[in-house]
Amino acid sequence: MLNLEQMRQELNAIRDATDQAYNVNFFCHTPPQADANREAGWRAELAPYYAEHGIEADSIAPGTRREPFSAAALDLLEEFKPAVVSFHFGLPAAELLVGVKSMGSKVFCSATTVAEAVWLEAQGIDAIIAQGVEAGGHRGMFLSDDITSQVGTFALLPQIVQAVKLPVIAAGGIADAAGVAAAIGLGAAAVQIGTAYLLCDEATTSAVHRAALQDPTAVHTALTNRFSGRPARSIVNRVMRELGPMGEVSPFPLAASAIGPLRSAAESQGLGDFSPLWAGQNASGCRAIPAAQMTRALAAKL
Ligand SMILES: Cc1cc2nc3c(=O)[nH]c(=O)nc-3n(C[C@H](O)[C@H](O)[C@H](O)COP(=O)(O)O)c2cc1C
Repeated sequence: MLNLEQMRQELNAIRDATDQAYNVNFFCHTPPQADANREAGWRAELAPYYAEHGIEADSIAPGTRREPFSAAALDLLEEFKPAVVSFHFGLPAAELLVGVKSMGSKVFCSATTVAEAVWLEAQGIDAIIAQGVEAGGHRGMFLSDDITSQVGTFALLPQIVQAVKLPVIAAGGIADAAGVAAAIGLGAAAVQIGTAYLLCDEATTSAVHRAALQDPTAVHTALTNRFSGRPARSIVNRVMRELGPMGEVSPFPLAASAIGPLRSAAESQGLGDFSPLWAGQNASGCRAIPAAQMTRALAAKL
């Protein structure tokens, strides 16, 4: 969601603040054709909410701030040569992937099925992130859009470990030291954790998102395409409950523009009714502590 200049600033800050063992992550979607019918249908579903918040639907500009990995991004990375470049939603075009590898960066990518893991290994990457369906945020799925193909971490992980030779990183629903140790016991080389860090001091998690994560209703999450056009796991909020979590919205990432003004209007009143409240199925590990302390606690049983 950063433009090239913002990306350069962030990379400079990370380079200066670290031992340079950092991972830069990109989405790898194919930018969609705008679909006027679907956009109109999506806005029609939101119309009662626009009326409620006094929002003029015609004033909402279409468009997106989510760019996939590109030749321009690769040129920028050449200045930094990150230790790891990771991708979500599959891999970039072959010439871009060659460019990343020729910088000396290791390439990681999420797989949500055994078939995706086998496909990724055949593309010559360095590690596979086995993303179970418990995980918060967007499903990394890319060979199929069939949501019923998505399985839990402790079903997916051992099957991927068996199917590929690459190191496998377990992701999804891991929230404490026992979960980390269990994933390692099932053959993971490492774990990747998102949700547990969302209350950490360094996280830029918004106030409504922090409040939702600490509310008892955070136990109820669902896969929803309402916020971006692709399935992603969020705490169930008003728009997901009232319209249903999945719908005929504009294709990723265009669905975000129609709901954006509602999100802003509700958030200004302290409400997360229209916000993507990304969270995995296990938010029990969230703590408002420094990220380093969280990491040490998660590694305590290794
Ligand atoms: C708020 C949030 C944002 C995320 N954004 C990304 C992302 O930009 N790219 C990505 O590859 N994965 C992203 N993920 C998914 C994580 O990489 C990981 O698969 C997931 O957090 C692991 O499951 P857990 O949330 O149960 O810990 C995100 C997860 C969360 C919770």
